[in-house]
Amino acid sequence: NKENLLLTPPMGWNSWNTFHTDISEKMVMETADILVSSGMKDAGYIYLVLDDGWMAMERDKEGNLVPDPQKFPRGMKFVADYVHSKGLKFGMYNCAGTMTCQKYPGTRGYEYQDARNYAAWDIDFLKYDWCFTTGINAKEAYQTMSNALKKTERPIVFSICEWGVNKPWEWGEGIGQMWRTTEDIYQIFDSVHDEGTWNSLSVMHIADLQSNLRKYSGPGHWNDPDMLEVGNGMTYNEDKAHFSLWSMMAAPLMAGNDIRKMSKQTLEILTNKDVLAVDQDSLGIQGFRYLDKDGLQVWCKPLKNGDWAICFINRKTESKAITFDWSKENIVDEIYKYSLDKNVSYNLFDVWSKKNAGTTAKELKATLEPHGVLMYRLSKS
Ligand code: DGJ
Repeated sequence: NKENLLLTPPMGWNSWNTFHTDISEKMVMETADILVSSGMKDAGYIYLVLDDGWMAMERDKEGNLVPDPQKFPRGMKFVADYVHSKGLKFGMYNCAGTMTCQKYPGTRGYEYQDARNYAAWDIDFLKYDWCFTTGINAKEAYQTMSNALKKTERPIVFSICEWGVNKPWEWGEGIGQMWRTTEDIYQIFDSVHDEGTWNSLSVMHIADLQSNLRKYSGPGHWNDPDMLEVGNGMTYNEDKAHFSLWSMMAAPLMAGNDIRKMSKQTLEILTNKDVLAVDQDSLGIQGFRYLDKDGLQVWCKPLKNGDWAICFINRKTESKAITFDWSKENIVDEIYKYSLDKNVSYNLFDVWSKKNAGTTAKELKATLEPHGVLMYRLSKS
């Protein structure tokens, strides 16, 4: 049943950030194998999604989409079956416009026909982009495709990839289960040189844009600050900070690296179960930025059973000493009406070092490495 899709943010892998259109049956099958053998599937990464570039340049005579015969010689049903045989779910991509962003055939005018083909191939997820849409009403276009998917009666997650231009958070709930809030992420942690340039938003820039959107996100309807760049060239600290922030925001966690070649460190980040538990918490609350001062950001997220996640990020490129006196702070979630109880001494568990770190009865003193992160789970004993 569609209404029950994605009660927690989806986790999986998507081809775009690393491979762009250079995708193939072999790469997908190898990726499916590694999702299982690396332990990523067990950690929750179950959606394997092919992005732009899977199609031939033309539809066939009946107007059906055709997979690129070089890249996918045995067709998409074969790929979907293989992915399913590994216990994973399979996702594909198209676009609301006349062409995809990479100029493959778009779905405009073919919504029901394409949906029927996707269902016949047994796909579980559709990412639907927003290129070549001049003159098209966004809400209507996404509603049409959503209806077409519903008509197939196959539960297919609908990922609205509209980049935030027409405020999808205001109309996306009920049409899809997640919507992109910005243009594309880029594997840069923080940069002031990227303002407004297509295809190049840094991690911190995207995070900055999310705060006001948190009231729109929740179980079955998630804000999507774009896919992960963990393992794609940032430093170890930056990858950890990026992954922490996305979990604090209850973001969809779609790995975007070549997992066939990832380092042990990258895998450890992606499968850190205590960080994942914050992302996947059943309350489904997108955390908020509590403090943004002198290069220090503090993010807070209410969790089930009265727990909290608190995350300190050093936005500077040099180390930073911090103090945080819990008794003087007033951590309140105005929207979801939770507050950190000052009469309680919470236990602090450091989700990255996996160590107990005392309680909130004592002032916190720590030094954050450049672009470093400190993230705690707070619980009442
Ligand atoms: C733009 C999207 O935002 C990206 O995530 C990716 O899907 C590309 N289009 C594909 O062309």
